[in-house]
Amino acid sequence: MSSLLLTDVALLVTNDPAAGPDALGEIPAAALAIEGGRVAWVGPAVAAPSCDQAASAGGGAVLPGFVDSHTHLVFAGDRVAEFTARMAGQPYAAGGIHTTVAATRAAPDEVLSTNTARLVGELRAAGVTTVEIKSGYGLRTRDEVRSLVIAGAFTEDTTFLGAHVVPPEYGTDRAGYLDELTGPMLAACAPQARWIDVFCDRGAFDADEARTVLRAGRAAGLGARVHANQLQPGPGIQVAVEFDAASADHCTHVSDADLEALAGSATVATLLPAAEFATRSVYPDARRLLDAGVTVALATDCNPGSSFTTAMPFCIALAVREMRMTPAEAVWAATAGGARALRRLDIGTLRPGARADLVVLAAPHYAYLAYRPGVPLIAGVWKDGRTVPI
Ligand code: NIG
Ligand code: FE
Repeated sequence: MSSLLLTDVALLVTNDPAAGPDALGEIPAAALAIEGGRVAWVGPAVAAPSCDQAASAGGGAVLPGFVDSHTHLVFAGDRVAEFTARMAGQPYAAGGIHTTVAATRAAPDEVLSTNTARLVGELRAAGVTTVEIKSGYGLRTRDEVRSLVIAGAFTEDTTFLGAHVVPPEYGTDRAGYLDELTGPMLAACAPQARWIDVFCDRGAFDADEARTVLRAGRAAGLGARVHANQLQPGPGIQVAVEFDAASADHCTHVSDADLEALAGSATVATLLPAAEFATRSVYPDARRLLDAGVTVALATDCNPGSSFTTAMPFCIALAVREMRMTPAEAVWAATAGGARALRRLDIGTLRPGARADLVVLAAPHYAYLAYRPGVPLIAGVWKDGRTVPI
């Protein structure tokens, strides 16, 4: 098996506290050896082992590839008119999802696949090496299944989000939709999904409905995730913790009881600041979550309604500027935090044995991601030990 040494690394972020100080396990003037698609060795360049091949990081910082643990990439159409209206003062509401559901149902498979591939390509170029992708714009069995099949071509972390909103054909018959969702729709979708998610918020599903969805998902072998407390304070976070969800996502409105529940749980709080940006909402208080000992992840929430971005560095910059995270905390949250939110041990770190998924920056320090916001600093992306085109 051939080995490769990545050299000229100004600063290596390993996310392995055993490798260097603090949570990021930073190593200055470093090198990293790769063998069989995995990290074989990390350390100071002066102590590097000899390898069959070499590549240069060009004096940039090297980080674990970003883990985007929350996206809705399978959809058709856009909602630029809704965005424009919001910027003129209209509020965001869950009901906008129906616009995308109609466009997605009407789109041929090829259109959905091509759109998803384009967005996955954008994510790659932004340094994302693992992505979670949700369904949720089909909301009937055949369209949820095809959304998950399309998502499955790009990731193992596919999420069934039939519980996004109640589709219009059910009118006020919410129980009828939940019967379909937890019955035939779940049976058809579960083989294509690793996770189940429910939007537990104003205009979507209440706590008992969310429990019904998560209970059925758990019985079908799916892990739980919850869209929680985005639009208003509510029960979403508590329900997520109750079900040992891998992640409670958004966490924009967090009570003291929510904070305590999260801190005492294995549920990650996944913050999605691009959604607050694009809905002109108040940002979550990441500082308060971190200070309480909650594990925080950052993700893009890429979707056409509330957050149409694939730019993880932009999310990091927002987290630092608007959510009181340090650059180190934001980088950890976008890498190791995302991996925890997907309950994955093989990614989000560059300790020996981990997947050799990494990002090379055109900057000597990871803080540049927030220090130089909006500047394209992703110089190289490696997935499973190989460079990928960006
Ligand atoms: O995570 N909050 C619910 N779902 C998406 C938005 C979906 C949409 O507006 O199309 C979100 O922000
Ligand atoms: Fe979302």
